[in-house]
Amino acid sequence: MEKWRLLAPGPTPVPEEVLSVMSLPVIHHRAPKFKEILTKVAEDLKYVFQTKNDVVIFSASGTGAMEAAVANCFCKGDKVLVVRAGKFGERWGELVSVYGLNPIFVDVEWGKAVEVAQVKNELDKNSDLKGIFIQSSETSTGVKHPIKDIAALVKKNDNCLMIVDGITGVGVFSVETDNWGIDIHVSGSQKAFMLPPGLAFASVSEKALKFMEKSDLPKYYFDLKKERKNLLKGQNAYTPAVSLVVGLSKVLDMLKEEGLENIWKRHSLLSYATREAVKAIGLKLYAPDSPSESVTAVYAPEGIDGQDIVKIFRTNFKITIAGGQDRAKGKIFRLSHIGFFDKFDIITSIAALEMALKKLGYKFELGKGVSKALEILSE
Ligand SMILES: Cc1ncc(COP(=O)(O)O)c(C=O)c1O
Repeated sequence: MEKWRLLAPGPTPVPEEVLSVMSLPVIHHRAPKFKEILTKVAEDLKYVFQTKNDVVIFSASGTGAMEAAVANCFCKGDKVLVVRAGKFGERWGELVSVYGLNPIFVDVEWGKAVEVAQVKNELDKNSDLKGIFIQSSETSTGVKHPIKDIAALVKKNDNCLMIVDGITGVGVFSVETDNWGIDIHVSGSQKAFMLPPGLAFASVSEKALKFMEKSDLPKYYFDLKKERKNLLKGQNAYTPAVSLVVGLSKVLDMLKEEGLENIWKRHSLLSYATREAVKAIGLKLYAPDSPSESVTAVYAPEGIDGQDIVKIFRTNFKITIAGGQDRAKGKIFRLSHIGFFDKFDIITSIAALEMALKKLGYKFELGKGVSKALEILSE
């Protein structure tokens, strides 16, 4: 018997009732029934994104929506600021470079959040900046960036867009797209949206629409203007991932029923319990100062390779967690609490962690982490 558990920061577990609606016969994407579903989904997405503006849907992984943000809003040579505090900040840097923009980088030590003053400093020096690119939650390091304060720096500046990768932020903690002034807010289906990978989302502000009128960069599939126009008619420009959209409709019903405040509280509690439990085992957090509620990055103990912890989870316990990426590979491992996670998932992952560490010869009092998690989660 093999019982697999997906406790990774994406893809994340999919609820059974969502899996079951996705297994229904495929609806034709031009049929009235699909138009009805897509129209409802487009409306409900605004609730999760905290926006009155349209949230465009692409059949792609999250990076597709990131690419759309770059390709649709800018012109060749535009000067933009990219916050690089991990692998996904680096991705913004790669994307803007591929499209011929002119990036200035604010490089941040991995495991730390960017300081608002670092961004303000660059804005003061470069009055011609056309956009700021950042993550709300940098999944590779488990850091949460101060989006509200950074967005406030450009909210009233008609010449600069605030572009946020909220792939592990949307539906995890509050990021007020409209109130804070986020022009393009991106996310993906396989995170807090509790779906398989395959859908990417991008909210589009009025300010971003104006930038789009001027953009001279090439785009075809990831054309935000074209997709938005179609969405307003209950259509997609091309054949969408129909079954995922049907699943999304169910997910959005579930998210509305739980309510955003409760969803944020759940993620906050589960992430707090995870952090306290690993500390009780004697481990050090990789991002202690500004932790994201979606994923907890933890230093592997001295003399133990983080990848070995991940491997024991997979081979001995059939549990998928995440290791470190790039420069953090081997140094850290990452425990998830994004999406369809509850208290018992956290207790399972902490129990498995203790069992893995014991197997690897780490000296600690067995049960300390689980006991801490139980104490917090029983309240
Ligand atoms: C913060 C962040 N940005 C971007 C991505 C890339 O998304 P995808 O793999 O869906 O293209 C991820 C995926 O883990 C992510 O966590």
